[in-house]
Amino acid sequence: MAEEKVVIKINDNGSIRVNGDVELVDGEGNPFKVGKSFSLCRCGQSSKMPFCDGTHKTITFHSAPRAKE
Ligand code: FES
Repeated sequence: MAEEKVVIKINDNGSIRVNGDVELVDGEGNPFKVGKSFSLCRCGQSSKMPFCDGTHKTITFHSAPRAKE
């Protein structure tokens, strides 16, 4: 059985969206409870770290990196 490919998308001016079966652990190796789709904060202002709570929409956060070929 082929493994599902995990996709991590860096949203323009927003969070990092994770889709797929992954384990998210803290700095001590303890797992966060996550489903197969969740968003990580990239702006540093979420009150629900490490997850995005939408705060990036209310602050001036601009970042839209592009992969180069
Ligand atoms: S990226 Fe959404 S709250 Fe930080």
